[in-house]
Amino acid sequence: MLTMFKKRHVLSMRDFSREEIDFVLDMALSLEPYARGKKSNMLAGKILALLFFEPSTRTRMSFETAMKRLGGGVINLGPAEGSSIYKGESLADTVRVIGGYSDALVIRHPKEGSARLASEFSPVPVLNAGDGAGHHPTQTLLDLYTIKKEQNRIDNLSVALVGDLKYGRTVHSLAYALSLYGAEITLVSPSSLRMPEPIRSDLSGKETKVRETSDLSDVIDNVDVLYMTRIQRERFPDPQEYGKVARCYRLTPESLSSARKNLIIMHPLPRVDEISPSVDETPHARYFQQSFYGVTIRMALLKILIGGGA
Ligand code: NCD
Repeated sequence: MLTMFKKRHVLSMRDFSREEIDFVLDMALSLEPYARGKKSNMLAGKILALLFFEPSTRTRMSFETAMKRLGGGVINLGPAEGSSIYKGESLADTVRVIGGYSDALVIRHPKEGSARLASEFSPVPVLNAGDGAGHHPTQTLLDLYTIKKEQNRIDNLSVALVGDLKYGRTVHSLAYALSLYGAEITLVSPSSLRMPEPIRSDLSGKETKVRETSDLSDVIDNVDVLYMTRIQRERFPDPQEYGKVARCYRLTPESLSSARKNLIIMHPLPRVDEISPSVDETPHARYFQQSFYGVTIRMALLKILIGGGA
C-alpha cells in the first residue's frame, strides 16, 4: 500500500502502482482551486530546491508556482556556470549539500539515471524532472490527470503516442503508465525513432494492446487521445540524422476533419512544427490546459512528500 510514499522519491512510473497513481490524481483534484489562486499556507516554512541542468520552462516554473501558491519557498541552483558544479563538484556532493538546505529536490539532468543517483545521496525526497532520454514521471502524472479530466476516464481509451518515441522521455513514462489502465496504445514514429525495446517488451507483458506504425494519417480517426511530441534535436548524435526526421509529422485542422468528436490532442510542449498553431482553435486542442494541470499535479506531489499528505 502506497509504497512510493514510503520510498519518498518520485523517480520513475515503474515505482508507482495504479492505486498510487489514482491517489495522486485524487489529491490533485482536491487541490485544483489552489492552483487557480485560492490562498493556502499548507507548505509554509518548507523549501523546495530546483536543480535544472537542462532547459525548462513549464516543469521548473510549475513546480515553483505550486510551491509558492501553497505558501512554501523555492531555492534555485541556477545555471551550472554560476555554481560549484563549474568548479568540478560532483552531483552527489551538490545533492548532499542542497538537501541540507531544503525539504525536497527537483532535478533535471541530461544523463539517464541521474535522478536515481541523486536519490542515493539526498537526505530529502528527490523528484525526477527528466533524466536525459530516460523518464519524466511528474509529466506523466499531469498527462494522466489531463486525460481523466478531459475524457472523464483513463481506462480502455485508445491512445496514439506520436513523434520521437526513441529519445522522448515523456512517452517512455506515459506508455508504461497507460498500460496499467488497459489502454489501447498505437506507437507512431519514423522507423529510426521507434519506442526502445525494453519499454516495448514491458508493454507486451501487460493486458495492453500495442501496435506500431509510421503513418499518422492512418491513426488520427481511430483514437481518443493524440499525444504529440517534439523530435528531440538535442539528443541526436548526428545532426544529419535529425535532418532526416525533422518535420516528419504535422497536425493541421484539415488532417483532423474526420477525427472522433471526443478526440483530445495533447503535447508536453514545447512544440516545434508538429502541431500547426491553427489547431489551437479546434475543439480538440488541450495542450495549454495540460500545461496548467502541471501546477495542480505538482502541488499534490509536494503535499504528499513534504506536507504530511499521505
Ligand atoms: C518535455 C521534456 O523536457 O522532456 N518538456 C516538458 O517537460 N514539458 C518535452 C520536450 O522537451 O520535448
